Amino acid sequence: MMILSTIAELRKVVVKAKSSGQSIGLVPTMGYLHEGHLTLAKNAREENDVVVMSIFVNPTQFGPNEDFESYPRDLERDKKLAASVGVDYIFAPSVEEMYPHDGGIYIRAGRQAQTLCGASRPSHFDGVLQVVAKLFNLVQPDRAYFGQKDAQQVAIIQTMVRDYNFPVELRVVPVVREEDGLAKSSRNVYLSSIERMQAPVIQQALQIAKLELMDSGDVDKALSQATKIIEHNTAGKIDYLSILTYPDLKEVDEKSDQILLAAAVYIGKTRLIDNLILSLK
Ligand code: PAJ
Repeated sequence: MMILSTIAELRKVVVKAKSSGQSIGLVPTMGYLHEGHLTLAKNAREENDVVVMSIFVNPTQFGPNEDFESYPRDLERDKKLAASVGVDYIFAPSVEEMYPHDGGIYIRAGRQAQTLCGASRPSHFDGVLQVVAKLFNLVQPDRAYFGQKDAQQVAIIQTMVRDYNFPVELRVVPVVREEDGLAKSSRNVYLSSIERMQAPVIQQALQIAKLELMDSGDVDKALSQATKIIEHNTAGKIDYLSILTYPDLKEVDEKSDQILLAAAVYIGKTRLIDNLILSLK
């Protein structure tokens, strides 16, 4: 496995792969890898000749009071883990390499970014689209791998690919969880042991809401049950708990065929997100 830290090095690899007709799979990450990221990479390994994983903590998707500085980083550990699942190249550029110019052209996420994480993290998805668009142009992947853990991110990237004709196939991988149901996340390392014990309640609350929704179809009842479960069983503060159509992220009505149940909860200072997708047809 090779580590590429400049765009020039990456370009050479991409040109070589393309000229010999090899397919490229891209796995975009911010590093501090866990089984969720590795599952994306394993899927990429199965489906492509060349696997490129990007590791870049993207400053433009963090708000001014968010955890950009303290976001966990450990490239040495990441290298071993990525190599163990057959990644061919890690692209790990510096911030200056990715963003040498200021005041240029920006991409703005549309209506889908006005709810859920986009409502509490204004401009977060603009930053995600900025870096993902650059990665698509740099790596020119045949397929790019994203996790359903970030369901809204997937929906918004799908829209960008559709509206701006990126020639890439998006592959979406189900949420990888700990044994007790907590969605794997690089941010789980922030949790104290008591917070860690409370964190799986988010998924349990979503499961209860799903049962209520399947049973009665009553969105408000499902939401209030899930809210009670989180409030009674954690010291957490709910950022949002929502039930929307997927991937449009609109209010649910009788015609909806896929429904997203999504939550963001502050467990202590750590903001955790999780979701479930329910297919009605
Ligand atoms: P990051 O949080 O590092 O996640 C990288 C990819 O791994 C995302 O597609 C995410 O959905 C997926 N992932 C994370 N935890 C997962 C889990 N438990 N199960 C399945 N997939 C999981 O998401 C980002 O980075 C950034 O926004 C990025 C797309 C790289 C742009 O900077």
